[in-house]
Amino acid sequence: MAVRQIRVLGDELLRKSCKPIKEVTPRIRQLIDDMFETMYEANGVGLAGPQVGILKQVVVIDVEDGNQYVLINPEILETEGSKTDYDGCLSIPGKTGKVSRPVHVKVRAFDENMEPYELEGEELLARAICHECDHLHGGLFVDLVEGELEEVETAEDEDE
Ligand code: NI
Repeated sequence: MAVRQIRVLGDELLRKSCKPIKEVTPRIRQLIDDMFETMYEANGVGLAGPQVGILKQVVVIDVEDGNQYVLINPEILETEGSKTDYDGCLSIPGKTGKVSRPVHVKVRAFDENMEPYELEGEELLARAICHECDHLHGGLFVDLVEGELEEVETAEDEDE
């Protein structure tokens, strides 16, 4: 496994649409492993292909609910409710902003074995699914932000 470089705001790859994956090759498996490692190293809860420069429809998510979700070619089937809360993105380091997202999401995707499945998420998981799926179509949370972007409070700030 290897930590890959995360593309940041301004990189045009983040604005492109991703191609669906037809089969999980060893290269794709490696990509998925690397995406998890890259996400954990950066203390993120989700990462999408374009963030590591790969324009393929693949997302990894870990919102610390005991699961490591892999979503290949995800398609959001249903959404319910709306909640305004802070979004953050590893491609927009140090910034956060308020974004309204569904409270409940149902998504259809393929897993790392290319088996189709459906996943339902609430709250943070729903937020992460929507955020990461946006990445596959060139969307970033800054497009949806309500009000101003804010600086993320660091642990150092909290000590003061
Ligand atoms: Ni993001």
